[in-house]
Amino acid sequence: MGRQFYFIFNFAYLLSRFKEIHLVDLDEQAVHDGILRQGLNDTNNIFVHGTIDLTGSLPFLCKLHQELELTEGEAKDFIQEAILPLKLNINEPFEIVASICILTQLIDTVIGALGNTHPYLFDFILKIRNHHLSQLISLVEPGGWGFLITDVVSSDSFTEMANISEENFLEIMKHLIANQNFFHGVNPYRINSVLSSNLLASTAQILHVWRWNFGSRIYAVYGIGVQKKTLSEIIAIKI
Ligand SMILES: C[S@@+](CC[C@H](N)C(=O)[O-])C[C@H]1O[C@@H](n2cnc3c(N)ncnc32)[C@H](O)[C@@H]1O
Repeated sequence: MGRQFYFIFNFAYLLSRFKEIHLVDLDEQAVHDGILRQGLNDTNNIFVHGTIDLTGSLPFLCKLHQELELTEGEAKDFIQEAILPLKLNINEPFEIVASICILTQLIDTVIGALGNTHPYLFDFILKIRNHHLSQLISLVEPGGWGFLITDVVSSDSFTEMANISEENFLEIMKHLIANQNFFHGVNPYRINSVLSSNLLASTAQILHVWRWNFGSRIYAVYGIGVQKKTLSEIIAIKI
């Protein structure tokens, strides 16, 4: 699936604003192909970090998928501790960190491993999601910004998507969420609140909702921005 992506941001523009771009994905070839499509294969300030599993738990999820049975003890272990720390061979933190249309992929991996009716499905989804959100903030330098951009619903379940004006999208998204018509784990109001309640973050904010036309299917996509506290604010935190 990754092969078709890496076109939603313009690397040449980003390179005019930033010293370096670091791209992280499980599918290294997809990232290289995307860079090549933008005619930038020989630039030396785009760094590809491929074969990085952002769930931090793919081996465990694969095992689960093959064995299907999971004891209550194993499920609790996962919920409490199975996520491996992210090992990126780079000099983090960054001025800006963006998670771009990846969260639903991580959540789909969990659904694929456990199945839709698993009693611990929601615990697992929340674990992976919240881990991703805190990872996002932890990679940002003090005072920098994190952005979470994710698809939230598609025209499969919201058939009027093609006809509505993008100006009304925020209001419409509120109705869709209230009517439970959205992908598992990406309720923007919940994500906003998880990001805002991170000790290292200032208040998060839903910035924009837009349409992503993918031919046979259209997605609604939203972006949330969250600023990390400054160093002096972080030093002043009392726990
Ligand atoms: C919708 S694409 C978005 C790609 C890119 N971020 C962009 O903006 O064009 C989803 C990406 O998620 C990646 N992905 C899926 N599971 C992953 C995982 N466990 N860890 C890291 N990346 C993953 C896929 O390889 C794919 O490139």
